[in-house]
Amino acid sequence: FGKKLLVEGEVTSTQDLARNAAEQGEAEGYLVIAEQQKNGRGRMGRGWVSPYGKGIWMSMVLRPPVPIHCAPQLTLLTAVALCRSLRRVTELNVGIKWPNDLLIDGRKISGILLESAAEDERLKHIVAGIGISVNLAANDYPEEMLEKAVSLRIAAGRPFDRTELIAAFLKEWEELYELFLQQGFRPIAELWESLAVSLGQKVLLTTPQGEVSGVPESLHDSGAIRVRREDGTLVTLFSAEMGEPL
Ligand code: BTN
Repeated sequence: FGKKLLVEGEVTSTQDLARNAAEQGEAEGYLVIAEQQKNGRGRMGRGWVSPYGKGIWMSMVLRPPVPIHCAPQLTLLTAVALCRSLRRVTELNVGIKWPNDLLIDGRKISGILLESAAEDERLKHIVAGIGISVNLAANDYPEEMLEKAVSLRIAAGRPFDRTELIAAFLKEWEELYELFLQQGFRPIAELWESLAVSLGQKVLLTTPQGEVSGVPESLHDSGAIRVRREDGTLVTLFSAEMGEPL
């Protein structure tokens, strides 16, 4: 990954460049990195603050030999790779909130956005977008975001080298991807569970079908989360926003 690399200054979103490249036939491992995104995208149609030179804004092309319904597993794999590499380089206490937010003391420092193109069940490609708020200062964020977002620099009180972080992430990613291709999702799910901060505490989850309150217990092999409701029943949620602990 990253052997073929496109480094840009200002772009709309690295997702757009990587998607175009994938549609033009670029192979798995193609990586786009930008200094700034004018229209950085987050999950659920949200934006992503991506000021010049302050973070890692990158997208990679994947062509995994798995059906489309395995895409959520790759999101979780990416979260594990990010969490492990961030912990290693920064020594900060980084944890994962389901499905793929990386948090330090409850505040978000990194996000992952997977966009896939498929024909029927066949996956054509995935564009995996990774945003890491590395050296942003407090005044780089809109004020209302500061409660929920943080950068590595704010959390550690010192700046970090982006190249070192990217290299550490790609190394972790490649090792885990190899493991996934050889042994499937189970070993990745176990790693994910060991890094999760969102298990074992009662939360409110907002799903497309309505709200569910309960205690997230474990990952389902599909990448969904299993939540124990107050009446003792277990529900499996594929898509939901997880609130703060109740
Ligand atoms: C989220 O947590 O909502 C996902 C954020 C993903 C942000 C990254 S930055 C690089 C790539 N390009 C984008 O426009 N988004 C992703």
